Amino acid sequence: MSASTATTTSARLAAAAGGAPGRARAATGTDAAFAVEFARLGRTFAATAPASARPVLRDVSLTVHPGEVLAILGTSGCGKSTLLRIAGGLDSPSAGSVQIDDSPVTEFDTRCAVGFQEPRLLPWRTVAANVALGLPRGTTRHAGRACVAELLELVGLTAFAGHRPAAISGGMAQRASLARALARNPGVLLLDEPFGALDALTRLKMQDLLLDVHAAAPTTVLLVTHDVDEALQLADRIILLGQEQVAPDAAAPGATIVQELTVPGNRPRDRGSAELAELRGRLLAGLGIDRHGDARGVASSTGIPHFPY
Ligand SMILES: Nc1ncnc2c1ncn2[C@@H]1O[C@H](COP(=O)(O)OP(=O)(O)O)[C@@H](O)[C@H]1O
Ligand SMILES: [Mg+2]
Repeated sequence: MSASTATTTSARLAAAAGGAPGRARAATGTDAAFAVEFARLGRTFAATAPASARPVLRDVSLTVHPGEVLAILGTSGCGKSTLLRIAGGLDSPSAGSVQIDDSPVTEFDTRCAVGFQEPRLLPWRTVAANVALGLPRGTTRHAGRACVAELLELVGLTAFAGHRPAAISGGMAQRASLARALARNPGVLLLDEPFGALDALTRLKMQDLLLDVHAAAPTTVLLVTHDVDEALQLADRIILLGQEQVAPDAAAPGATIVQELTVPGNRPRDRGSAELAELRGRLLAGLGIDRHGDARGVASSTGIPHFPY
């Protein structure tokens, strides 16, 4: 995000809350960004006849720092959503552990908020009422109303507060969904391909919005994406989940972290920089895409576009 945009958003947030610049929602949440620590985490789904037990994740160890934006990349079905679900307590590991702010995650964790590819708004509620659903229990009516107004302002939906989801665009619905997640004032924001269903232009705008939101309320973000450029644009650090080769023709069962890289430079980053191009090449190679965009192992002469991620 540009410094000027950050200042504008932060000032807007502060103005909406009637306070000083910075985090303006202390009244309704923890107002903190938490570390997330995965320690030798594994997940095997139990056998269900006729399928045998399925190891999906193995030996994932990683510390996400408070306020960090971590992007999680990997081929489809490799376990990205599973890792995110475990971080939020929506699923449990079969081995190892996950901790938030040094305490174990054991059940759905209210320190987290989750955003999905689909906005999942309640169709019979207005946009404002949908955002209010994210407020922590016990929020007073007055504080809740102020918080919702502030969040709608932040995501540019003030004029649509009274609309029902059917009357707004897909991008707007996704902004409302992001505002609902932020209403909890989460210490950790878990986003599972949040912009995956949006058109290319709306997606770029949403990426800028996420950077604005993060500058105004710098929570820890775990972002699952299949878009290498999105990861390079938004994240401080990127991990690639995949299967480790243990022999020339054998991979270990279950995905683990096969690449980890720190993205250089402040946001917004120059999408055309040579440094990012080099990282993009490395990540695409890790995803099994070679330099001319073909998937390895697929005959390019078929002419069928093939994106294995
Ligand atoms: N509850 C479940 N029971 C059995 N298998 C599951 C369950 N959830 C996910 N899986 C399997 O685990 C694998 C990883 O899924 P997922 O984490 O959704 O992948 P990704 O998000 O990377 O596409 C998939 O093969 C999926 O079918
Ligand atoms: Mg997924």
